[in-house]
Amino acid sequence: MKSTVFSKDHSLLLAWYRANRRDLPWRKNRDPYQIWVSEVMLQQTTVAAVIPYYEKFLTLFPRVQDLAQAPESAVLKAWAGLGYYSRARNLHKAAKALNENGFPKTAAELIEFPGFGPYTSAAVASIAFGDPVGVLDGNVIRVLCRRFGLDVDWWTTTAKKDLQARADIFAQLGHPDEINQALMELGATVCTPHSPACLLCPWSSRCEARKADRVLSLPRPKPRKKIELWTWSPVVIRKRNQVALLQRHDGPILRGQWLFPGNFEKVKQKPTSFHARHGITHHDLYVNVSLSSRPPKNPDLKWFDVEKIVEVNPSKLLQKILQAAEELKS
Ligand code: ADE
Repeated sequence: MKSTVFSKDHSLLLAWYRANRRDLPWRKNRDPYQIWVSEVMLQQTTVAAVIPYYEKFLTLFPRVQDLAQAPESAVLKAWAGLGYYSRARNLHKAAKALNENGFPKTAAELIEFPGFGPYTSAAVASIAFGDPVGVLDGNVIRVLCRRFGLDVDWWTTTAKKDLQARADIFAQLGHPDEINQALMELGATVCTPHSPACLLCPWSSRCEARKADRVLSLPRPKPRKKIELWTWSPVVIRKRNQVALLQRHDGPILRGQWLFPGNFEKVKQKPTSFHARHGITHHDLYVNVSLSSRPPKNPDLKWFDVEKIVEVNPSKLLQKILQAAEELKS
């Protein structure tokens, strides 16, 4: 690929971004901590959904030292509703390490910290410090596959390397902070999966997918993982306003977290009756709740106040189970 092609693309994209960038709360400054928090939140949900969480989170923990010094339960509580709680735990762990060691300025160093994968490391280093590395997320992958007409298995290591190399070239041509955000922004607002607004795209006349009338068929759809069906029979053991939980590693989801005791089982068919259903990525969990007031035998069980459960485990699943338990009582 000729560098003049990238260079022209780069200037068209940069001009487009400067004229069209959204005014988002994390674009007010280049504070690495604030940018990091926004990028972790943005990995799992849309800009519109992130904004209120982001603002609340930064009010509670305005600087990396505030997050480092906070108890984990406060961090999880602020995260409650966003999902993917291991991200909040890793954010907290990394805040402690970054608070001690300082914030490194390159993606190569950031990737050593908990929860910093290739995406977060490149996003924070480029946006906050101008490190010239390309950021690859779903939006950028779609934009690049379309622009260059790449009909490839983009989820494979080989194809990712090629895409990363292209994103890196753009970042190295200058203004990596803006160019990475421009690629993400173009994917989020113009080059969308199902109804791209090609007439608004700075690359419309250069887009290989468009020339071949293949915009909607690129990037190739990733083959879906088969969904696993599981049942869970949580036992809600209650003593006054407390319930007994166990730190479990044996279920299909929420591994390592405080959960109710009771059997998990992988099944072939969806059960005909259940109290609640909970789906995460490729797991569908069907829940049948039972109650017990007998003192538990398992020495690993710990008692928690019902109102405090959301702080130890903010997953909506536990709230659904408590709700079902209430209904069983009455
Ligand atoms: N999606 C995730 N991070 C983003 C950013 N910094 N700008 C635009 N879209 C994004």
